[in-house]
Amino acid sequence: MLSVTEIEKQEITFSADLLNKMGEIVGRYPEGKQKSALLPILHEVQAVYGWVSPEAMDKVADFLDLQSIEVYEVATFYSMYFLRPQGKYVLEVCRTGPCCLVGAEKIMDYIGEKLGVKEGEITTDGLFSYRGVECLAACGYAPVLQIGPEYTFYENLTTESVDRLIEELKNR
Ligand code: FES
Repeated sequence: MLSVTEIEKQEITFSADLLNKMGEIVGRYPEGKQKSALLPILHEVQAVYGWVSPEAMDKVADFLDLQSIEVYEVATFYSMYFLRPQGKYVLEVCRTGPCCLVGAEKIMDYIGEKLGVKEGEITTDGLFSYRGVECLAACGYAPVLQIGPEYTFYENLTTESVDRLIEELKNR
């Protein structure tokens, strides 16, 4: 398994499949409005590489005939785009006030200890990383985490339910 630094240094080439998919997405929008395809194309790129690197964003900019800065602006605005390599499963723990009041920070610490990584690092098997995110709009079920790409919610977290979740993900 490559380290985060090694993954960051990898050169990428968009596959024919990915380019076809990107072309199909652009085709959904009127002529001259190709910028509208940016969000779904970034999702496709992230689905392939697990994150959107600066190099990938530059390639998307070329493909859509945009300035690179226009792609960076969008990718850095939305937290669903990962700007660093991540594990296959990213446990995104809400760390806004209401979740913190009922133990979100302890849950994050527990996840880090259990996985043996710090926030933003990837486990050696490549399966997991975790990070804190802002309110997931499920405050009544705090503490809460979500896992993409389906953005499944896991609510009323306890250390026991985190144990069960991690086991279940390992066995998928
Ligand atoms: Fe955690 Fe709203 S504060 S879901």
